[in-house]
Parts: sequence; structure tokens; C-alpha cells
Amino acid sequence: MPAKKTFYITTPIYYPSDKLHIGNSYTTVAADAMARFKRLTGHDVWFLTGTDEHGQKIQRSAEKADKDPQPFVDEIVAWIKELWSVLDISYDDFIRTTEKRHRETVQQMFNKLYEQGDIYRGRYEGWYCTPCEAFWTSRQVEDGNCPDCEREVELVSEEGYFFRMSKYAGRLLQHIESNPDFIQPVSRKNEMINNFLRPGLEDLCVSRTTFNWGIPVPFDRGHVIYVWLDALSNYITALGYLRDETLFNKYWPADVHLVGKDIVRFHTIYWPIFLMALGLPLPRQIFGHGWLILKEGKMSKSRGNVVDPMVLVERYGSDSVRYFLLREIPFGADGVFSNEAMLLRINTDLANDLGNLLSRTMTMLERYFEGIVPVPGSEAHPSDGELRQLALETPGRMSELMDKLQFNGALEALWNLVKRSNKYIDENTPWSLAKDEAKRERLGTVLYSLCESLRFISVLLSPYMPRTPRRIWTQLGILEMPQLQSWDSLQEWGLFQAGLKVQRTEDLFPRLNIEAELRSLLGEGEGEGEGEKSEDKTNKGLSNEQSPQQKDADHEKVKNGEITKEMVSIDDFARMDLRVGEIVSAEPVPKADKLLKLVVSLGSEQRHVVAGLAKYYTPEQLPGKKVLFLANLKPAKIRGLLSEGMVLAATDSNGKVVLTTVEGDPQAGSKIS
Ligand code: ME8
Repeated sequence: MPAKKTFYITTPIYYPSDKLHIGNSYTTVAADAMARFKRLTGHDVWFLTGTDEHGQKIQRSAEKADKDPQPFVDEIVAWIKELWSVLDISYDDFIRTTEKRHRETVQQMFNKLYEQGDIYRGRYEGWYCTPCEAFWTSRQVEDGNCPDCEREVELVSEEGYFFRMSKYAGRLLQHIESNPDFIQPVSRKNEMINNFLRPGLEDLCVSRTTFNWGIPVPFDRGHVIYVWLDALSNYITALGYLRDETLFNKYWPADVHLVGKDIVRFHTIYWPIFLMALGLPLPRQIFGHGWLILKEGKMSKSRGNVVDPMVLVERYGSDSVRYFLLREIPFGADGVFSNEAMLLRINTDLANDLGNLLSRTMTMLERYFEGIVPVPGSEAHPSDGELRQLALETPGRMSELMDKLQFNGALEALWNLVKRSNKYIDENTPWSLAKDEAKRERLGTVLYSLCESLRFISVLLSPYMPRTPRRIWTQLGILEMPQLQSWDSLQEWGLFQAGLKVQRTEDLFPRLNIEAELRSLLGEGEGEGEGEKSEDKTNKGLSNEQSPQQKDADHEKVKNGEITKEMVSIDDFARMDLRVGEIVSAEPVPKADKLLKLVVSLGSEQRHVVAGLAKYYTPEQLPGKKVLFLANLKPAKIRGLLSEGMVLAATDSNGKVVLTTVEGDPQAGSKIS
């Protein structure tokens, strides 16, 4: 058997200066989805994450917490590992920069670079931003603030070792220009070239002396190695560089380093230059993704507005949170995070589209075939071929999009199949087929196709939502059939076995009451669940106001019919005064060709109503009709006429509006309940 193609993917290693927020989780969830996707498509994957534990920032955070740095970070790292566990992050290795394997290799690298003359001793006079752990020149520092995080920088003057960046700048520029995929998205590549490489690189200070929480320079113990040289090296020290040639040669160079936009500079300038100096091949791609922001701006611990991923996962499950993160925002761009956007996605995409598809299929199989998957007949309707075709095309389409790291596009492609499958039900109306024994074979074909489509959907879902496929397979009766769960099994339509027993058990994603959830996430008590016991309200969620973009997006969805109404309680329903109304008279409204002016009797009183019925009924057709009537709708003026209530109507299959009349002969004014 030929060796599998390897795929090495990394996340940034996080500073354990505090707990991580939803923004940090975003990168790791994306990397995990990619790693799982590559495993599914037959790659030999190595997925690395970890923690960046040295440096002035960590030392200061530990001092503030009145702890020694090592126990301080140990505690946070344990929390981070727990977070990755609840988010189902399938990393192959977790590197901590305080580990011996890392420290020793970094010292060996430093020695090598010094011995070959790429590192030399000097004195640093300039600016330093501790939160970013970044050196800045006077030219770059505006008004004493860091150009990246806009916080105050400190003037530093200390002995140090310098790396000859300038020596490699030309080679790097050439590499970037001749490898268009090296820095993605393109906007970040242009920024690096124009803002940093073209103006010229200065040599970089790669050691510090004013604190000691770091890896000592091996031959000059008063210095610790600059934390970015230390941190970036994790991508090779974890792979066994200078220790385990087999592992290292198997996976290096990395296929992709996923990083946030703020640290693209370190990964596309410092890191490739260090690698060039070490004589190592460069990673194939550095992808700088956008940030999750809040409608009021940046998420930051100091502003106390961060969103705690643990709370969201405990409350909604990791699959829902992962789905939202990957579906909502194009990976390269910034995107607004809001609780309501997340809840809306859960209700529309997961509960309505996916959940209903499964439950409708299961219910019909149980009702019409006693839960036994029927033998399909011939494809008799164009919708059969269309569904099959789309299912067979979807894996390839998703694969192309994943290679471009377009997670949201890949999920959109998958949801096209989910929506097409729901449409297939509506087109074939199995409930009508079931009434006619002569159409039993056709009914079997329809339900079989739905099982097969659900199989495709569940397999394709697994990289993004690792828990949901098994729940679907359990209901479909294929949990123990790995041959129906593989990527290869999606090359062919029709592998689902007739005769299998399905079982409807649970709703995959019960619909959420959005209002109650929002209140609860804001800590207002009502409907509080397990995840809401934390004392820290700032961690719970965000304001329930929507951003203008979100409102537009929601509106689009309502327009497209993607959003169905929320569940209401019996009390909500009871607030509506629904009556039988009898139309007494109808006449046109001058200069309004769609409207009719009606008088409706509710027995003891008469109401004037303006209704959009003129295109569907002549005034003569209406008197005497008894219709459903909403009597306590707030009165409104329409074309200058008072309208006091609403006659209810439906749209028939030809798009014609038809009044909802009542059976029998109830008295005008009778209450409807
Ligand atoms: O930078 N949305 O660590 P870090 C999306 N230790 N991503 C966000 C974000 C947000 N709101 N806020 C932060 C470091 N991030 C270094 C990395 S790698 C050799 C060393 C991302 O814990 C941020 O862009 O400060 C970065 O990619 C990651 O979280 C880690 O940030």
C-alpha cells in the first residue's frame, strides 16, 4: 500500500497568562476541523497545539497573582487542556515551552546560530510592548503606544544578542513573491511586504536581561532567550528536531500554521528567517485568520467583556459551538460574535434543517415501513437524480473549499445538501404517496434516498461536529458499520442497506427559546441551566442587542424562509383573541389596487378592516363568508383608513391568497381556541 500523504497543522501556542476566550478557541476549533477533515480524506495527520509559557508577560501575571511562574502556568495549562477536551480537540501533541524537550532544543538552536555568526552580541536601545512581547523602533511607535495592541510601550536599554535579520530579508521577499500561497489571505501578504519587508528589516534583539523567566542563553546565563524565538521554535522542537529524525523528517515542513492576524508578522518574517538560517525548509503556508469581535469592539480581558467558551459548551454542547464558529464567519475576515447569532444558527441550521430532516425521515420510516429501510425502486422523478447528483458532488466541493481554508463555504456546501434533502421531502410528499398502495414502491424509493442522503451528510459533518454523526448513525442503524462511514463510501450512491432497522430516539437539537436563553446568558436567572453556576457574570455572554450586520443577516434569513417562528407557550397563544368573523360587506379602496375595505361582524360588534385581498377576491364574493379573525391586533391606519383586526388567510400552491374559512356554521364572534 502506498504511504499516506502527510499533513502537519499547528495552532499558535497560547499564553497561559489567563483563561482562554472564545477567540482563542476559534483557531483551535478550525485547526481541529481541518485535521479531522484531512484524516477523513486519508491523510496521515500531525496536529500540534500547546502553550507559550515564558517571557515578561507571564512573569508579571504570575507576580500579580502572587505565585511563582511555574505553578501559576501549570494551573492555567490544566484548564486549557480541559477546554480542548470539552471542545473535542483531537491534537496529536501538546507542547509546553517549559518542557525539557523544548528548552534543550532551543538552546542547541541558539548555539548553532551563534556559532555560525547569525547571532551576535550588542546593546538594545528601543521600545518594548510586554503584552505583545514585541520590540518596536521609534519610527514604528506612535505616541508611545504599541502599533498592534495600542497599549503603552516601555523604553528598554539592555545588553543583548542580535539576530542578523537583514542578511535574509532579500531571500525571504523572493520566497514570498514566488510562492503565492505562502502567506494567506493575500491582503496579509501585501501588508507584510509593504509595511515590513520593503522598508527594510532591522536586526532583531533575541535575548533579554531584565527578568529571568525564560530559557537561559546557554553560554551567557544572565540572558534569557527572547520569547518569540523560544515560542516559534515549538513547531519543530515538538516534532523532534535534533532529537528524533524520523518524526521530524516525516512531517516537516508544516502544511499550514494557523495564526491570528496579530501574529502574522512573527510567523511570516521572523520564523522563516530563523528556519532559513537553520537550513530548514519553510512551512508551506501561514494562514492569518480574522478576529472574533464584539459589537462594541475588541474582546479583551482588561475590558472584562470576553466570552467564556466553557460556559457556551456546557450549555449548548461542543458541536453547536464548533458549528457556529466555523459556519458564521469567513475564516480570513473579522466577524462579530453575538449570543443571538449563535442561538439563531442553532435553531435554524441545526434544529430546523438538520434535526428536522432526520426526525421527519425516521418518523416516516416508522410510520410507513415499521422502521425497516425499504428496497428502492427505479428513479422515477427528476428530484431523485438531482439529490443523488448533489450528494455525490458535495464531498469534492467541500474538499476544494477546505484546501482554501474556507470552513464556512464547506459547511454552506454541506447545508445545500441538507436543504435539498428537505426540499426532496416536500417535492415528493411521502404522506400522500402513503395513501395509495399503488405508490408504495415510489414511497420506498423516497425514504431510501433520504437514508442515503443522511448517510452522506453525517459522514461529511464529522470533521466539524464530531459527536453528531454517531447520534445520526445510531438512529439510522449503521453505528457499527464503518464501511458506510468512510470518505470512500461517498464515492457511490446506494450503499445504504435496505432491510436495516432504524429507530427514532431523540431530537438532535431541540429548539431553543432564544429570548429565555439570552436572558439566562446575561445572568438574569430565568431558565438557568447547569452551565450558569459560575459567579463571574462578565464571562457569561454578551449584550442581547444585535449589530446592524446581524440584523441584516437575520432579516435575509427570514426573507428566505430559513427562519421559522419560535415555539410559543400555551399562555402566549392565549393572549391572542381569535374569533369567527363574518364578512358583512366589502368594497374597493380608492387608488389602492390590492386593498379591500371590509366590515366584519363579531356578533356583538362590527369591525372595519383593510385587507390585501383585492387581487384574489372581488368585493361581491366576500359577504357572508365566515373566517378566522384576530380581534385584538392593535388598530392601525392603512391608507388613512382605520383597520381594527385581521382576517386570516393562507397561500395556496399557486401562490393565491385564500381566506381561512370555518367548517359548519359557528356564530359570528365565537371564540377560537
Ligand atoms: O499570541 N479572535 O498567544 P495569545 C480570534 N503566544 N483570535 C484571537 C482573538 C479573537 N478575539 N484574540 C486572540 C500568542 N486571538 C503567542 C503565540 S505562536 C508561536 C505564539 C488569537 O494567547 C491570536 O490572534 O496571545 C493568536 O493567534 C492566538 O489567539 C493566541 O494568542
